[in-house]
Amino acid sequence: MEQLNFIRQLPKVELHLHIEGSLEPEMMFELAKRNQIPLPFQSPEEVRAAYQFSNLQSFLDIYYQGAQVLIHEQDFYDLTWAYLLRCQQDNVIHTEIFFDPQTHTDRGIAFSTVVNGITKALSDAESQLGITSQLIMCFLRHLDEQAAFETLEQALPYKDKIIAVGLDSSEQGHPPEKFQRVFEKARQEGFLTVAHAGEEGSSENIRNAMSLLHVARVDHGVRCVDDPLLVEKLAELQMPLTVCPLSNLKLKVFDTMDQHNICELLEKGLCVTINSDDPAYFGGYMNDNFIAVAQSHSLGSASLAQFSLNAVEASFVDEESKAKMRNRILAHLEHSLS
Ligand code: HPA
Ligand code: ZN
Repeated sequence: MEQLNFIRQLPKVELHLHIEGSLEPEMMFELAKRNQIPLPFQSPEEVRAAYQFSNLQSFLDIYYQGAQVLIHEQDFYDLTWAYLLRCQQDNVIHTEIFFDPQTHTDRGIAFSTVVNGITKALSDAESQLGITSQLIMCFLRHLDEQAAFETLEQALPYKDKIIAVGLDSSEQGHPPEKFQRVFEKARQEGFLTVAHAGEEGSSENIRNAMSLLHVARVDHGVRCVDDPLLVEKLAELQMPLTVCPLSNLKLKVFDTMDQHNICELLEKGLCVTINSDDPAYFGGYMNDNFIAVAQSHSLGSASLAQFSLNAVEASFVDEESKAKMRNRILAHLEHSLS
């Protein structure tokens, strides 16, 4: 089977996707009009042209601005539904998505508006598209501990809808230890934990996310290579890393895709996965990320399928669901070889 078709048809699991980062410029314009929010751009093309980032912060500034067009429950539904239709196109069979409640509650949008809009779309996707999902609530790490505690409090009535808490936004200057106590509380309340670490920040942040926040996965984690003992430990523990190749390129974590270390980490036996992060801003959904890695590193089918199998192992679903997904991936691999 030709490689592009192999990738397109490969069943995939996405574990690192910020729903606010799936807001395409066309929808940004549509919602701005619907909600009468002024935009500093004249057209979707002009918005796309502004997506030239020099680092994480330069992206975050424009990303938080974009999210301001989201006001009503229907807006959050439409945003999530549009992403799920992209999942269907890319053969994503299961997705675990992040949302940033503080980006919205700080503008006076109710927590319930955000969660209800997102979860209605997730539920419709399961019944209408056969795509399963989980929801992860992220704390914005540039805000203080108290604000994270208040957000956690707001999430308690939605425990059955939110599987885990995470940590995103500016990594530099906001290390995992700042949120140790709030993560402790979240774990007591029954949430799993994840955290962005070692994207722009140091490998020490990865170590601390594991030892202090007890994360079940590390988001990004690519800076682990600065600490060979940590790399060994990640392999031994099979600690999943949710790597986002096109994001890393756009935010200049790596200069070129050939220099990206994802294949080196795969060869070392780490549980690395491929994800899209903020696809509307970084120029690609799941298939595009797989294709970019495959083409720059001349990867074969077995390695590509391994990324998908790793994501199944790393997902927050029961063993029976994992077995079903694993079998679908293995069937695709076998079919492609025959
Ligand atoms: N890193 C940190 N914060 C984020 C990201 C990211 O890649 N995407 C959205 N918020
Ligand atoms: Zn991210």
